[in-house]
Amino acid sequence: MPFEIERAIVVGASGGIGGALATALARNGTTVQALSRRGVATDPRLVAGTIDIEDEASIASAADSIRPEGPVDLVVVATGLLHAEGVAPEKSYRHLSAAAFERYFSVNATGPALVAKHFLPLLHRDRPTLFAALSARVGSIGDNRLGGWYGYRASKAALNMIVKSLAIELARSHPQAVCVALHPGTVATDLSQPFQKRVPADKLFSPGAAATSLLEVIAGLSASQSGCVFAWDGSEIEP
Ligand SMILES: NC(=O)c1ccc[n+]([C@@H]2O[C@H](COP(=O)([O-])OP(=O)(O)OC[C@H]3O[C@@H](n4cnc5c(N)ncnc54)[C@H](OP(=O)(O)O)[C@@H]3O)[C@@H](O)[C@H]2O)c1
Repeated sequence: MPFEIERAIVVGASGGIGGALATALARNGTTVQALSRRGVATDPRLVAGTIDIEDEASIASAADSIRPEGPVDLVVVATGLLHAEGVAPEKSYRHLSAAAFERYFSVNATGPALVAKHFLPLLHRDRPTLFAALSARVGSIGDNRLGGWYGYRASKAALNMIVKSLAIELARSHPQAVCVALHPGTVATDLSQPFQKRVPADKLFSPGAAATSLLEVIAGLSASQSGCVFAWDGSEIEP
């Protein structure tokens, strides 16, 4: 492990992957602030707090409540939206809707950007730290072979661009920091549930397995890799 994770923040800790990440970190002895809309901890070792990433005042207030406890080593944004009432991945351009696009961008791009705005200042300046946002392989323009999923793909591509700019800016004030986007693989959660039928069993990870892989990837990253997108197996994904 190139850096000690004494204190971590998981945003979206009520989610399948976010919850598993928070639990895995706590099991390793990390003090974990587990933030979610409901503010309920799924594990007694977690310190629960509330956040709504579509409400900047809520993001600022979550950061304010953590700041007095001192700097943190790791911030993971594990929120995301693929389907919801009135929002579903579009199979064709004929299904595009401005309202659905707004929802995708609000949760998958603007929200994580505003989390960065309020939480990057909580990172230690004088030692290795990491800010990671969960993205998706389908956000890669170069890897897009099937088309469709316009809003989700575009919002994740935007997230990857935001992470790149954050990495460049963060390097000036926090030279040892790493800022990356991570693809967790296909993971059995509510988000992927409607799309799991055609996924072979050995390609559908449990949230716990995904968390273990992602923490291994995080542990191997260095500042020279900041700004990039990495998959669960450590491979880099093209923009
Ligand atoms: N599962 C996969 O196969 C897969 C594949 C590629 C990428 N990913 C990415 O991995 C990340 C985690 O996905 P998951 O599979 O763990 O999904 P999930 O179980 O559906 O979790 C999504 C999380 O996002 C939170 N969230 C949504 N809108 C929010 C808001 N406005 N404010 C605060 N929290 C909000 C949800 O909170 P509530 O509990 O309050 O709804 C929930 O905690 C996402 O970015 C997703 O795109 C997942």
